[in-house]
Amino acid sequence: MQNYLMCQPDYFEVSYVINLWMAGNQGKVDKQRAAAQWQQLHDTIAARANIQLIAPQPGLPDMVFTANAGLVNRRHEVIVSTFLHAERQGESAHYQRFFLAHQYREITLQPGIVFEGAGDALFDTAGRLWMGCGIRSASSAPAAVAQALGMQVQQLTLLDPRWYHLDTAFCPLRNGEAIAYRKAFSADSIRTMEKEFGERIIWVSDADAENFACNAVNIGHDIILYRASASLKVALQTWGYKVIEVDVSEFMKSGGSCKCLTLEL
Ligand code: ARG
Repeated sequence: MQNYLMCQPDYFEVSYVINLWMAGNQGKVDKQRAAAQWQQLHDTIAARANIQLIAPQPGLPDMVFTANAGLVNRRHEVIVSTFLHAERQGESAHYQRFFLAHQYREITLQPGIVFEGAGDALFDTAGRLWMGCGIRSASSAPAAVAQALGMQVQQLTLLDPRWYHLDTAFCPLRNGEAIAYRKAFSADSIRTMEKEFGERIIWVSDADAENFACNAVNIGHDIILYRASASLKVALQTWGYKVIEVDVSEFMKSGGSCKCLTLEL
């Protein structure tokens, strides 16, 4: 059984703007709706995996996006995130406390390197680590993480501020395939993905990317996401997957969707 970390949206709101999706949404979150949507996502995942919860904290509205808590590996080691924006920096101490209380071994990067955890670092089934950088996580983060974990890292450069975390535009799938949004990446990064995944990558449309289709939680053959086009669903079906849509529209006001709301432990 897979394990996921989630955080109840008790204090979730859009109270500042640190990504383009948040612009114009300040004060616009329907809290009751957000709570119900989060619960729906929670229950959908809980039917397929274990969930652990971290206590939400007042004044840290984005803590609900546990993908940014840190990067966890199979050896029960964690690199706790060091956020770019002051608005989220207060989250790190809470994540650190959680991980230490749950017997994770903390690995630290050199001070001063911005690294936003599993939002920008995704393992594929082969155990390779894919890291996005250039917008949130620093360009120096992939090399620093590679050194800290003693492993190679595939570095992907994000170019468009709308796709500010790797998990907004790239999702490796359980059976070795991936879905990704081409326009989010540099030409070199696209070549790297094409080389590594060959025919086993789906480049999603603008509309699917804007519905955060790449921000998906893949448990077994189920792919949990906000919304996918009929053609993307068919393509994923051909690979043996089933798409399960969960309405997380309140969280999209903050630039996050299903995958951002979880951290695989
Ligand atoms: N409002 C949050 C931020 O801008 C959203 C984070 C979404 N997380 C993610 N892993 N993509 O930081």
